Amino acid sequence: MNADYEVVPLPQSIVKTDGEGFILKGSTKIYYPKENDVQKQTAEFLAEYIKLSTGLTLAVTDQDVSDNVIILKADYKVEKPESYNLIVDSKQIIINGSDEAGTFYGVQTLRKSMPVDGTNKEVVFPAVSIEDFPRFGYRGMMLDVARHTKSLEFIKKYIDILALHNINKFHWHLTDDQGWRIEIKKYPELTKIGSQRAQTVIKKNSGEFDGKPYGGFFTQEEAKEVVEYAKKRFITVIPEVDLPGHMLAALAAYPNLGCTGGPYKVGEQWGVFDDVLCAGNEDIYTFLEGVFSEIVEIFPSEYVHIGGDESPKTRWKVCPKCQAKIKELKLTSDAKHSKEDKLQSYVMTYVEKFLNSKGRRIIGWDEILEGGLAPDATVMSWRGMSGGIEAAKLHHDVIMTPTSNLYFDYYQTTDIQNEPFGIGGYVPVQKVYELEPVPSELTKEEQKYIIGVQANLWCEYVVTPEHAEYMTMPRIAALSEIQWTMPEKKNYEKFLPRLTKLMDLYQRLGYNYATHITAIASQIEPDISSGTIKISLFTYDNAPIYYTLDGSEPTDKSVKYEQPLSIDSSVYLRAVAYRGSEKSKEYDNKFDFNKATLKEIKLENSPHKNYTFKGPVLLVDGKRAVGGFASGEWIGFEGNDFVATIDLKEATDISKVITGTYEEPMSWVFGATEYTVAISEDGKIYKQVYDKKIPVLDKNSAIRTVDLVAEFPTTKARFVKVIAKNTGKIPDWHEGKGSLAYLFVDEIIIE
Ligand code: ACM
Ligand code: ZN
Repeated sequence: MNADYEVVPLPQSIVKTDGEGFILKGSTKIYYPKENDVQKQTAEFLAEYIKLSTGLTLAVTDQDVSDNVIILKADYKVEKPESYNLIVDSKQIIINGSDEAGTFYGVQTLRKSMPVDGTNKEVVFPAVSIEDFPRFGYRGMMLDVARHTKSLEFIKKYIDILALHNINKFHWHLTDDQGWRIEIKKYPELTKIGSQRAQTVIKKNSGEFDGKPYGGFFTQEEAKEVVEYAKKRFITVIPEVDLPGHMLAALAAYPNLGCTGGPYKVGEQWGVFDDVLCAGNEDIYTFLEGVFSEIVEIFPSEYVHIGGDESPKTRWKVCPKCQAKIKELKLTSDAKHSKEDKLQSYVMTYVEKFLNSKGRRIIGWDEILEGGLAPDATVMSWRGMSGGIEAAKLHHDVIMTPTSNLYFDYYQTTDIQNEPFGIGGYVPVQKVYELEPVPSELTKEEQKYIIGVQANLWCEYVVTPEHAEYMTMPRIAALSEIQWTMPEKKNYEKFLPRLTKLMDLYQRLGYNYATHITAIASQIEPDISSGTIKISLFTYDNAPIYYTLDGSEPTDKSVKYEQPLSIDSSVYLRAVAYRGSEKSKEYDNKFDFNKATLKEIKLENSPHKNYTFKGPVLLVDGKRAVGGFASGEWIGFEGNDFVATIDLKEATDISKVITGTYEEPMSWVFGATEYTVAISEDGKIYKQVYDKKIPVLDKNSAIRTVDLVAEFPTTKARFVKVIAKNTGKIPDWHEGKGSLAYLFVDEIIIE
């Protein structure tokens, strides 16, 4: 069995060298430098990894050996920290780090290069020289334990998963509205009251609750154990105490810290709450100093995350204490920021000064830009990349973690019916992989402020450890390659076979990883000018695909897929891939051609740029949208109406016009409030043939798809105008009241 150095993340340089390779056997020793406990630990890790993958038990030694040995050391002379040089010849494998972290990453590469068989077989490591270094110094992964907590044992397992992917920062989201999960000795009620909630909402703020108390927290001793465990794996634990918003759990424990004085309840549903720390109350500054004094004792990390996201100013605007504080500080509104925004900056800067006095630095979510950045703040850009761009231009350090590519709570497939319930969104492995975290619109100088990349796993809907693993792997593999590998080396097609090997190791390690990438993927290209739809099918490993077009069950006796299909009439495509005799999950897609299919379509108003996808052709591609609103198969309008005109090319008998819509009010996606169809002979003068008003969605509306259906006496028309009116402003019952509602549509069917 041969080792293969093309691992995830891909090393920067792998040069095959002449001569025989190294044969790893049971008698091979792992050497570490005398009296170096850190390297000894790394040597022991390597012995464990080898045992797991090959079944061979290797001895670890500090006695000089020159033959049949893996040598760990750290005197590789390069500029970049965490680099390593891995040299293999017939006598030795030398892993030479620029520092001990570098040695550790060399060990990870060696480990991932081994076949995973476990049957006591020797492994041949071909002769090679690998030179490797990380692209970014900050390589993070965030886990939210506030919404649903996890056991100490699982946190350690999670850290192992991070280490496997060369990640060096574990961002631990410890506090939020729904639970305070870290013991603070000065404020015992934080965990006594704040770590417990009476019940939890079912699904997405459905109005129904499970009636079951939920709680838990980490003692300081346990948290220190996590810090130690992570340190051995060269991972820094960055704690987050989110302020001044997302503080409901703390307010429930200490109601005097809020503007109204309460009473408050630990959050039982998700979202953003108006009750936040009262910035005009001197007690919160004492409180924050007390909390962070203990936090810095537990966590030696240079960075401490202080949140700053999603903190409404509703209470501050009417709170006499907050307004007095604004006066005292002489804060004034300007064109960009309100005086309350500036009050938040004051709070963040206050905490920054305190942490600076303890030798620490702050990280905050990109909202900390609003009202002015604290002087030395590092910005975590999550609402896209623009916050990060703005911060880099202001010469502040930036960590990129945009929802669009790096929110691992989002769905990883459009087939959401067969997924555990999730928050929405759509971030498949490829989307993670595609992210280039350094925006080209920044100058070379500004680009240096992008110090890292991170993905986030929020756990509103991620209750069990198995589910957390499922959401994390294999997307974290794609993340690790954005974090580690230089962009010119990145290639998704070549990444996939590397990922398959890594998945063998996941399997061996007993991890519960997602396998969506093993399913058949497709690319669908509707072409209005030729009146055809091109369908390409793929498997990540080129496993052969067989398909039927008549809806019958596909098997390996069906037609083999050789080249893209081109269709110009209704088909029901079903396909399977075979790996040996093993059949993949079935792929299916229905294309129904109707009078509107592949006809010229024009939109009067633009969809939102994030929800435009392939554009209006999506509405006439013969294919009904599947998945949630972010699946790429719906088009979304923010506040404005959907107005489309379809040119049927010739006067055509029509009597029915259907428009599909998608509703998910908890995600600000509302239904249409009026549906109108008008027809025309010349595209100038229109005659209305259907109009119906539809009530605004009420509080009890569910997630669903709704077909708007217009039926009218058969009439001849060439142009058909379809109007679906947007709700406009979100109604008062909703947390987003007054903001613009979204309207999502797909597929116009004309009969
Ligand atoms: C966040 O997702 N609220 C940072
Ligand atoms: Zn207040």
